[in-house]
Amino acid sequence: MWIGYKILIVSHLITEIWAEKQYLSQREVDPGADFTRNHTILEGTRFKRAIYKGQYCRSFGCCEDRDDGCVTQFYEVNALCYCDTFCERENSDCCPDYKSFCRGEKEWLPHATPWYTEDRWTAQNYSQFWGMTLEEGFKYRLGTLPPSPMLLSMNEVTAVPAIIDLPEFFVAYYKWPGWTHGPLDQKNCAASWAFSTASVAADRIAIQSKGRYTANLSPQNLISCCAKNRHGCSSGSIDRAWWYLRKRGLVSHACYPFLKDQNTTNNACAMASRSDGRGKRHATKPCPNNIEKSNRIYQCSPPYRVSSNETEIMKEIIHNGPVQAIMQVHEDFFHYKSGIYRHVTSTNEKSEKYQKLQTHAVKLTGWGTLRGAQGRKEKFWIVANSWGNSWGENGYFRILRGVNESDIEKLIIAAWGQLTSSDEP
Ligand SMILES: *[C@@H]1O[C@H](CO)[C@@H](O)[C@H](O)[C@H]1NC(C)=O
Ligand SMILES: *[C@@H]1O[C@H](CO)[C@@H](O)[C@H](O)[C@H]1NC(C)=O
Ligand SMILES: *[C@@H]1O[C@H](CO)[C@@H](O)[C@H](O)[C@H]1NC(C)=O
Ligand SMILES: *[C@@H]1O[C@H](CO)[C@@H](O)[C@H](O)[C@H]1NC(C)=O
Ligand SMILES: *[C@@H]1O[C@H](CO)[C@@H](O)[C@H](O)[C@H]1NC(C)=O
Repeated sequence: MWIGYKILIVSHLITEIWAEKQYLSQREVDPGADFTRNHTILEGTRFKRAIYKGQYCRSFGCCEDRDDGCVTQFYEVNALCYCDTFCERENSDCCPDYKSFCRGEKEWLPHATPWYTEDRWTAQNYSQFWGMTLEEGFKYRLGTLPPSPMLLSMNEVTAVPAIIDLPEFFVAYYKWPGWTHGPLDQKNCAASWAFSTASVAADRIAIQSKGRYTANLSPQNLISCCAKNRHGCSSGSIDRAWWYLRKRGLVSHACYPFLKDQNTTNNACAMASRSDGRGKRHATKPCPNNIEKSNRIYQCSPPYRVSSNETEIMKEIIHNGPVQAIMQVHEDFFHYKSGIYRHVTSTNEKSEKYQKLQTHAVKLTGWGTLRGAQGRKEKFWIVANSWGNSWGENGYFRILRGVNESDIEKLIIAAWGQLTSSDEP
């Protein structure tokens, strides 16, 4: 079983901290002499290289104390990084996966396990779902209303320039490091309508502003403020979420963080926005926390629908950034741990009553191809869920691509950031 994807999607935080601090590194090494570790693992196809790209300590091992030979190449920033205990000092020069691999739970299998033999997804009995019935899973972990007829009748946009050669493997994070946002955890708040919309909007604004605005946007802002009849944590529609992003705008996730308890009185909308008459909106109140000072409002263009054609979706992602997808969730999806998800119809009589579906909204952020056991090629999407990093492949999942698995290709939505000319980089 190969579960390296968890590391492939590198922890944004660690990477950011690392990138910030790399220049402060006090290690004196000769990169030529020290970069002597075994590289054979990195040879092979472009795909394979891409796979190992995010794996540092995982490929090269962890070391105790100070070991200046315990170094590998950090490709994304063309520098060296370390997997020894010493790297964890104030000016950290640890590899991005040091904490998760060397310090985290050692649940990883040795990398000698061939990555290409996996053609079936694996399940896990998640502790976060213990004590929850399936009905409750459907009720609290999803929360996107079926798309409205208006949304479904939207014209598909295919304005993207015709591309050339789509790579076999693509992750938005590699093209736009630091500009795309990893999965949050909606907990028992049925608001994937808000989480997926805020996340797609945040990525799009960062990409469009060329990194000037990289804040993640606040799902709580949507949950608390975007609801005529206030049912934020008990489902919502993405039409409404995009309407709010266009007309009212959202503050950052840091400014308006996710509330632990959605049922308390303080989940009333903490701020509104008003126009300054020149097309820009401003928050009416400071952030509802003492740490974040910036209550800048971010807005989007009206959403547009991308064609359901696999190639068109890929083109849209590689040119403009991640997109929102609506999918049907079956009972087995909750237990997904790794691999390429496809719904497995249960023959178990007991679970037949659970053969129902609910709608969920997620973020498509890349794709790839894997060779299955019989040499069969399996194409997949790489998708960000909103059930935290402990679910699936570090919060992401892969799902069959090109066959409308679980309706994942049925409705693809994206939008542009609304940046005024003074916002342009
Ligand atoms: C590199 O790895 C290969 C395969 O894992 C092994 O056969 C070889 O001996 C290693 N070379 C060094 C220098 O460690
Ligand atoms: C999942 O794990 C919990 C705790 O160990 C156990 O009570 C439960 O029966 C398990 N569920 C399944 C489907 O294995
Ligand atoms: C919050 O309150 C609503 C209505 O009062 C209730 O239906 C829901 O179960 C509560 N949610 C949680 C997570 O306690
Ligand atoms: C999808 O679009 C591509 C061109 O972008 C086209 O070649 C292909 O035939 C389309 N596929 C389907 C199933 O329509
Ligand atoms: C995907 O499947 C759903 C349900 O079967 C269907 O309504 C939809 O038209 C399909 N979309 C595509 C692009 O095949």
